[in-house]
Amino acid sequence: MSEKIRVLLSQDTVTERIKALGEQISRDYAGKQPHLICILKGGAYFMIELAKYITIPVTIDFMSVSSYGNATVSSGRIKIVKDLDEPVDGKDIIIVEDIIDSGKTLSYLVKLFESRQPDSVKLCTLLDKPDRREVEVFVDYIGFQIPDEFVVGCGLDYMQKYRNLPYIGIVEL
Ligand code: IMP
Ligand code: MG
Repeated sequence: MSEKIRVLLSQDTVTERIKALGEQISRDYAGKQPHLICILKGGAYFMIELAKYITIPVTIDFMSVSSYGNATVSSGRIKIVKDLDEPVDGKDIIIVEDIIDSGKTLSYLVKLFESRQPDSVKLCTLLDKPDRREVEVFVDYIGFQIPDEFVVGCGLDYMQKYRNLPYIGIVEL
């Protein structure tokens, strides 16, 4: 089965925006050392790209959660597949996600991380689909707000494919 992918955000557009976010985070956290928490797998591309444009010291960690399986709709259940390697107490953490859709994943993660006594918790997402929100979450850094379409690229997949696309595309089934 093959899908058609229509470009929504070009490679240059995405790169420019990630650069601006990196610069903003560098200013906001001046004198601090933010701890970037990448939500695998989708957040990996964005976090690595973002970190390149952060000019202050950062540390990184990874967490893997599953909520979607191979479907394009949220199951609403969130399972920790891989927890963090390092404790987060006393750290200024920034959760880095690929996309916020229903908000279920992030609202669960924010509660979880807050219970571990960090100094602060902020959220950074490459994409936001506000029309799909079911659970309210406050997002500090947003790359792009996009319409209610299923997108791939820059870490986002459709059935595990297309994460490597250097642009954001809409899947046309
Ligand atoms: P939420 O819990 O509904 O906010 O789900 C967020 C997760 O769903 C993201 O981290 C993605 O893995 C996945 N997801 C939501 N929308 C899309 C999409 O358009 N393309 C690819 N994955 C998506
Ligand atoms: Mg994800």
